[in-house]
Amino acid sequence: MFIYLPLIIVGVLLLITGILILLDYVFGGSSEKQITLNNDTKLTVTGDDFVLSTLAANKIFIPSACGGKATCGLCKFRLVDDVPKVKPTEEPFLSKEEIADGVRLSCQVKVKDKMKIILPESLLTAKEFKTVVTEIEELTYDIKRVRFELKDPKTVDFKPGQFMQIKVPGIDVIRAYSLASDPSHTNYVEMLIRLVPKGQATTYVHKALRVGDKAILTGPYGDFFLQEDSDKPIVCIAGGSGKAPIRSILFRLKEMGMSRKVQYFFGAKSLKDLYYTEEFEALQKEYPNFEYIPALSLPDENDNWTGEKGLITEVLDRKTGDLTDYEAYLCGSPGMIKACINVLNKHKIKTENVFFDEF
Ligand SMILES: Cc1cc2nc3c(=O)[nH]c(=O)nc-3n(C[C@H](O)[C@H](O)[C@H](O)COP(=O)(O)OP(=O)(O)OC[C@H]3O[C@@H](n4cnc5c(N)ncnc54)[C@H](O)[C@@H]3O)c2cc1C
Ligand code: FES
Repeated sequence: MFIYLPLIIVGVLLLITGILILLDYVFGGSSEKQITLNNDTKLTVTGDDFVLSTLAANKIFIPSACGGKATCGLCKFRLVDDVPKVKPTEEPFLSKEEIADGVRLSCQVKVKDKMKIILPESLLTAKEFKTVVTEIEELTYDIKRVRFELKDPKTVDFKPGQFMQIKVPGIDVIRAYSLASDPSHTNYVEMLIRLVPKGQATTYVHKALRVGDKAILTGPYGDFFLQEDSDKPIVCIAGGSGKAPIRSILFRLKEMGMSRKVQYFFGAKSLKDLYYTEEFEALQKEYPNFEYIPALSLPDENDNWTGEKGLITEVLDRKTGDLTDYEAYLCGSPGMIKACINVLNKHKIKTENVFFDEF
């Protein structure tokens, strides 16, 4: 009798699994569900996955820089009616007002029948692009420029400052990168990718990605972009790979004739962290309205650095006057951005004229 016991246990487990699959099918798991998007679009979806992946399967791409692990907070959406209790994983990313307003993380909420969801219209234009890596350039010891040529669709329209997501080939993790290229070149995009020690995506990009590799991109995303209908003078501030979206913004300003006064502060530690120096110095020579101000906080003795020295906040404080009528575009680490905004506030910038992306 005992020799049959394992067989009996396996049989019972298989029977329970079969019943569960059947119940799941009958009571909703695999059945069709109706979703209403932005009060009018009706979507029929299947499965009981999370809203993020379910919408992606239906070609609606919500930004998700952490790939659904509840660590980036980018995948917000709003639910109308039947709003689930906020999960502890969502709490760090949602304000009290957002929670009360039905905002949740789409990677944490499972799709339900008759769900009514609201997404910003700007997200509905994000697409999936099949691309091929056509250039990889080492800009510094830890930053690479990667060009992705778009194959299907073949062109993209993005606003300078926006970002796209890449499903890193080979490891399939999803990460967000700002677009560093000229927005008027619509058949490719470029990203400046800084190696993060032990970082999954960046280690792959720096050590294994090769010209000719295929990659899937989605986007464009983000509300950090150049206000093109403004004529206010501009202060740009960046550190590290934060140079990426500012480069794209400067391409556009150049195309517009650089009629606005632009001061660009770039903070780095030492000379080996500076890049695109010649490109921005050439721009400075061409346009008297544009000033490039690289600053080193810890130059090496051998750097023979004669430019600005000190933290970027100190240099910004020294070199700017009254900023009441200015716009500011900042990109870098959260700490750098917070400290720089304090300096901008000291110089009377208006909060509504400060735009930033932190990473
Ligand atoms: C909107 C947006 C735009 C971005 N644009 C760019 C860009 O233009 N260029 C760019 O290089 N990156 C950019 N990033 C950051 C990028 O998405 C990744 O987070 C970063 O490249 C690390 O990915 P990883 O997989 O290598 O590291 P992970 O495997 O995700 O992380 C490894 C470890 O490093 C830590 N870590 C994660 N990110 C950083 C970081 N940035 N600095 C220090 N430690 C970190 C993590 O806490 C973790 O402990 C952007 C992020 C966002 C949200
Ligand atoms: S995808 Fe990053 S928090 Fe949801």
